[in-house]
Amino acid sequence: MNLPNMKQARLRTDKKVEFLDANNIKSDKFKNKKYFIRTYGCQMNVHDSEEIKGILENLGFRETTSLEEADIIVLNTCAIRENAHDKVFGFLGRCKHLKKENPNLIICIGGCMPQEESVASLLKEKYPFVNIVFGTHNINDLGKMILEENKKQQIEVYSIEGNVYEHMDYVRDSKITAWVNIMYGCDKFCTYCIVPFTRGKQRSRKMEDILREVKDLKEKGYLEITLLGQNVNAYGKDLEEEYDFATLLENVAKIGIPRIRFVTSHPWDFTDEMINVIAEHKNIMPYIHLPLQSGSSKILKLMGRRYTKEEYITLYNKIKKRIPGVSITTDIIVGFPNETDEDFKETLDVVNTCKFDGAFTFIYSPREGTPASKIKDTIPMEVKENRLHELNELINSYSLKHNQEYIGKTEEVLVLGPSEKGENKVYGYTKTMKLVNIDDAKDDIGKLINVYITDAKSFSLDGKKEVFIKNN
Ligand code: 5AD
Ligand code: SF4
Repeated sequence: MNLPNMKQARLRTDKKVEFLDANNIKSDKFKNKKYFIRTYGCQMNVHDSEEIKGILENLGFRETTSLEEADIIVLNTCAIRENAHDKVFGFLGRCKHLKKENPNLIICIGGCMPQEESVASLLKEKYPFVNIVFGTHNINDLGKMILEENKKQQIEVYSIEGNVYEHMDYVRDSKITAWVNIMYGCDKFCTYCIVPFTRGKQRSRKMEDILREVKDLKEKGYLEITLLGQNVNAYGKDLEEEYDFATLLENVAKIGIPRIRFVTSHPWDFTDEMINVIAEHKNIMPYIHLPLQSGSSKILKLMGRRYTKEEYITLYNKIKKRIPGVSITTDIIVGFPNETDEDFKETLDVVNTCKFDGAFTFIYSPREGTPASKIKDTIPMEVKENRLHELNELINSYSLKHNQEYIGKTEEVLVLGPSEKGENKVYGYTKTMKLVNIDDAKDDIGKLINVYITDAKSFSLDGKKEVFIKNN
């Protein structure tokens, strides 16, 4: 079967990327006013929201978690699957109602959705009460747009790739763990994926800028950082300098932050050097998210993933062998066009071979403008739902088995905050990214402690703080 033309990347150009300082506009025009922000989607969006919060706080706004109290509402949106859209449009209905009660309310929509042409025009025609529409490439303009707000709808979404900005005034959600962008965009063009369109071509940050940010976070007392990119192992390929992800990771490790993580990796660019660097540095956590997407080489080819089922399994085994105790999670899509029962069975076979620690699983969602959306999709929704259900059961059974292996062991846990599981409990993560609910450790938030694991479920562990009794 022929795939549609891959060159139809309507939002991409050959524009040279410029490295600029962020425009951190400061004003007290909105002193004592409140902002409400809602973030949809991936970690990249969560971190973009930290940038947006910085912009808002520089203008005088302070955060509120009450919608009714807000003077400005910002929705930072996701476009990866159709249901992400539906949630945003549902929420906009509530905003319209609030605007009737408070005509001065400023409503802003940013992130990936406005980068889609059809969404930008829909907002213009059907949602005139939205004041400001901005995209992923011009978050930096939001401050200016808010200051110029005059009740007319302002839509400013760049259809070309943005620049790389440095020295943003982030308002970070945590004082313990921090996100660090190492690159923006993606050049992989998996045929189902809208990210290369909404976030544009790959733009890596310069190594020295990343290292400066990590050093600064270390000085501020952060105990964990996560290096962020759509495809972190392609880091540096777009830069003139001879940088690669293994070198970056090693230099970051040497700064000495206690815990370093990174997301997301693509099996295609995962080099032996990277595996060695992870294995050799104790502060690079033994946890890798390695999206499989499908266990059928036929479907992988249609997805444009550039590896076969066998190549994935070989890489998986290599990582497991070289990094003892590593936990590996994955992403899997079911119901991609032309996926037969046999193809799906191959996905289950790979899951049975790899026995992942966990997985995010999705039903394929056609995205306008992507090559896969042009392939005729004949699989009934009921079949897709059944496949998802069967896959989830299998994945959860392995998650539980892995978690049960922790019972009776002592694990180092970074404690992040109060747990939803009970009054006296806090939660944190093991090195391998297992969520642990811990009894009686309220004073340990923001600390690395040893936890004795008492019980295991599919998605979490229970434990209690290990107290060392000194025998003289
Ligand atoms: N439909 C379903 N899942 C998708 N993903 C990306 N695009 C789509 C789509 N069109 C999934 C992939 C990716 C994760 C972030 O989202 O599994 O790894
Ligand atoms: Fe999308 Fe593929 Fe890029 Fe991941 S690697 S963001 S799935 S195009």
